[in-house]
Amino acid sequence: MNKMTPLTIAVPKGRLQSDVISLFEQASIDCSELRDPSRRLIVPVSGTQWRFLLAKPADVPTYVEYGAADLGVVGKDILLESRKDVAELMDLGFGRCRLIVAVPESSGIKNVQELDFNSRVATKFPEITTEFFNRQGIQAEVVKLNGSVELGPIVGLADAIVDITETGTTLEENGLIPIAEIAQVSSRLIANQVGYKVKYDTIHSLVERFRRVLGQKHGVEGT
Ligand code: PRP
Repeated sequence: MNKMTPLTIAVPKGRLQSDVISLFEQASIDCSELRDPSRRLIVPVSGTQWRFLLAKPADVPTYVEYGAADLGVVGKDILLESRKDVAELMDLGFGRCRLIVAVPESSGIKNVQELDFNSRVATKFPEITTEFFNRQGIQAEVVKLNGSVELGPIVGLADAIVDITETGTTLEENGLIPIAEIAQVSSRLIANQVGYKVKYDTIHSLVERFRRVLGQKHGVEGT
């Protein structure tokens, strides 16, 4: 790997952060500054011209699309929702969950076709939700929320939700059941389309390093 090629990697703050650090450390990339960034949002990788940029998960595709970061780690849910023009290089395997449609168990509804015409659907993922319901030929009103989406049906704001579920605990504790799966989600390594070509050797050798750590077969990355 050419450690002299500058590389900026957008790391999502929050639930994926420790998995990202662990993967990078297993790939022998020094993350000591990332483990203790205090309030810094840009931290260097010592011994290289690389740096990490700490971003809100939903903003990672934006930094990468505009070339402010060469690479980024992001959940497939956020990537699908963002509609950004980036290259998806590999599935990193962690952060696994499911993007689902759920309704109150008390509604008796068993599948999306049973939802009433113009049902309200609360979600953090309006683009994915609109596309899903259009594809199903179901007229629905999509209501954007920024979190705690499970509240929607409880307080009469929505008839259904589209959200990610990992353990199923939040659904269960709020009386909701899944009635459809929209996508399987895991974290992805993404790249800026131009940066990927210009810095191909450096990025490709990093991808190969990750593949070895994750026990994945060698392959052609990029979409
Ligand atoms: C996510 C998701 C669900 C919950 C699912 O929320 O939106 O609410 O986790 O996890 P579970 O199936 O393991 O219970 P997050 O914690 O990101 O908070 P948010 O709802 O405020 O976005």
